[in-house]
Amino acid sequence: MEVISFLNNKGGVGKTTLCCNMAQSLAISGKKVLCIDNDSQHSLSNRLQVPVREKNMGHLYRDFNGAEDYVPFLEKAVAITAVPKLHCITSPFNLINSDVKSLKAVKDLIEKSEISEFYDFVLIDNHPGVDRLQHAAILASSRFFVPAFLRQQSLEGLGELITFLHRLIIPDKAISIIPNHDEGLKHDKAMLTKLKKMFPHNITRTVIPKDRMIEEVESQGKILFLDRLFTSKSVPYLIKLITELFPDEYDEKELKGKIAAKRSRYVGRRVLANLTGVKTAESSG
Ligand SMILES: Nc1ncnc2c1ncn2[C@@H]1O[C@H](COP(=O)(O)OP(=O)(O)OP(=O)(O)O)[C@@H](O)[C@H]1O
Ligand SMILES: [Mg+2]
Repeated sequence: MEVISFLNNKGGVGKTTLCCNMAQSLAISGKKVLCIDNDSQHSLSNRLQVPVREKNMGHLYRDFNGAEDYVPFLEKAVAITAVPKLHCITSPFNLINSDVKSLKAVKDLIEKSEISEFYDFVLIDNHPGVDRLQHAAILASSRFFVPAFLRQQSLEGLGELITFLHRLIIPDKAISIIPNHDEGLKHDKAMLTKLKKMFPHNITRTVIPKDRMIEEVESQGKILFLDRLFTSKSVPYLIKLITELFPDEYDEKELKGKIAAKRSRYVGRRVLANLTGVKTAESSG
């Protein structure tokens, strides 16, 4: 099982978007995925359309002592989503830095519960900046995905984040900076060159283009890899990115095939539901 934190000191660079799309695509391709919303804006829970659960990250940080049994917590905290095999632990509305009593809270949850036996991936979405909340996620994670828009402002804070991770003895190979929102302009190319020079060991080969469908599916509560699989500009790049980041899991053709097969079942079920007037969950089954 891999535990991955989505980080960037900068806000609005695609942490939640990438976490959500990656989680959904991994689950659609057959992996068991747990998302942890570690951000009080609970954007990831919103994107996955999961209401805040009775037990959530606030309880984990405030109430847990590392020796307790995690089963009752997980029973009340883990929510299912519209995509089978994709679950989520939500964040409460009032999650704050000082809630984090122990920086090992997330690490203990993952190591001392059944999570590692059940899931293939745990993806943790974080709010911008580095504080105790992110620190707790970082200590629990073995890999770090850092989306960055190709804009001058995006470089602000990136150096500090990478230095902070290095100070925690995290090796470069665990840190992937993912260029995002490429508009194909001269300026984007220049920024990419600058990023590669600054972080030669961390930049992914795959660059995610600007894609208006990302916001469209977000506002309509749709699933990019099911509802816009063949029309979204970013999907082929996200598939490339996943195979670049997880080369041992699948190759590009295999991943494409698995997702396309799930999508045709998903569309088929929706058509059938429309024909018969039966209301079914819009899921891939
Ligand atoms: N490749 C892309 N193309 C078009 N829009 C994008 C792309 N990536 C992200 N966005 C949009 O950018 C906005 C910010 O993205 P997102 O919320 O994922 O950022 P974030 O880093 O999680 O922000 P925060 O720091 O506030 O949590 C969203 O409206 C999202 O739809
Ligand atoms: Mg976010």
